Amino acid sequence: MRDAYIVSAVRTPGGRSKKGSFVQTRPEDLITHVMVAAIDRIGLDKSAVDDFILGCAFPEAEQGLNLGRIAPMMAGFPETTSGAVVNRFCASGLESIAQSAMRVMAGWSEITMAGGIECMGTVPMGGNLPRPHPIWSKEHPEDYISMGVTAENVAKRYNVSRADQDEFGYHSQMKAAEAKKKGLYTEIVPTPADKYTTMPDGTIKHEKVMIKDDDGIREDTTLEGLAKLKTPFAANGTVTAGNSSQTTEGAAASVIMSADALKKYGIKPIAKLVCYTTAGCRSDEMGVGPSVSIPKLLNKVNMKVSDIGLWEINEAFASQALYCLRKLGLDDKKLWTVDSDKRIININGGAIALGHPLGCTGSKLAATLLANMQRLGVKYGVEAMCIGGGMGAAALFELCD
Ligand SMILES: CC(C)(COP(=O)(O)OP(=O)(O)OC[C@H]1O[C@@H](n2cnc3c(N)ncnc32)[C@H](O)[C@@H]1OP(=O)(O)O)[C@@H](O)C(=O)NCCC(=O)NCCS
Repeated sequence: MRDAYIVSAVRTPGGRSKKGSFVQTRPEDLITHVMVAAIDRIGLDKSAVDDFILGCAFPEAEQGLNLGRIAPMMAGFPETTSGAVVNRFCASGLESIAQSAMRVMAGWSEITMAGGIECMGTVPMGGNLPRPHPIWSKEHPEDYISMGVTAENVAKRYNVSRADQDEFGYHSQMKAAEAKKKGLYTEIVPTPADKYTTMPDGTIKHEKVMIKDDDGIREDTTLEGLAKLKTPFAANGTVTAGNSSQTTEGAAASVIMSADALKKYGIKPIAKLVCYTTAGCRSDEMGVGPSVSIPKLLNKVNMKVSDIGLWEINEAFASQALYCLRKLGLDDKKLWTVDSDKRIININGGAIALGHPLGCTGSKLAATLLANMQRLGVKYGVEAMCIGGGMGAAALFELCD
């Protein structure tokens, strides 16, 4: 098999669903913007891209049909660039990178693109018209329960306390606030948002506003404030808005090339995708997913947890993230707290502060991880996440010299 190299990876800022920057912006406009930005960063002609695979967790309505095909056309790619949509819920954006890379590795494509999109305020989690199988859903309600309830299950079953979850949420916010202040989100491309205002005379004014930062970051978060938040998923629960991922709109895109293509176009790669894997677990505790997908990944490449220099483990909920860190032997707080110079896990904050735009997240975290690996000269980085329905995904990237 050949190697597949990521040569460019970018993302939009995250916008809070219902109240954030992109509530009036179409998903097509977000994804096309980052596709163009990803290719412009390396000065590649669009016609060189063979295929585009787009991850989306609820591919319907405004982000429906085959947006994987529409997006490249809207972004000015020629009709020869084909496209598809993949859905592995929260890992869709990573699945898209893996499938695009596999085409290159198999020798079926020289240059591909991958991406992820989710506008959670536009298409709600669960979709606009959920129609679970009437018999299966009655016999297996756990396959359809709210993700927040699965997070409560993990907290209860594995004794992850409210105080620990809040502390994790606090550090996510503080790390993100610090990264924003220091300008470390180099993977972000400023992205235009649409704003429509009804004027006094009844006409509608349309403006484009440039968004440069994630709007979910709460610099003023305190542990005392977090402790006061309600638990929306269970009466005596521990999971709150402050220790859960935010619902968000966002898009991310990357460009993947073979070694031959690198040579032909004179492009320097960022990293190689070494391995990608997925693993199943119980659906009513889907958050444990990374605790099975990460060991499976490392086993395949004959590596240990201690060989990995940087981690992006999606913070769907603090309860599940903390459980997974404990299982992986990564629960030493020095590895993830804002005041530690030994931190290697979600070093610029995670989805609790930055949001988790479901189908986009896999591509978004890859862009973040690769930017940090490049900045810090870290050889091996792992990205992982839990997945609704009871799964984990994990991918290993190796920095190129
Ligand atoms: C938990 C959840 C229900 C909260 O939804 P919400 O109430 O709309 O959440 P918000 O982020 O708007 O926060 C609500 C309020 O909590 C408070 N709050 C949130 N984070 C806070 C923090 N860090 N510090 C202090 N207060 C905070 C604020 O008062 C906020 O209201 P405001 O925005 O008007 O200031 C929602 O974020 C959720 O469902 N998350 C999980 C998504 C999911 O399941 N994804 C898939 C995973 S597999």
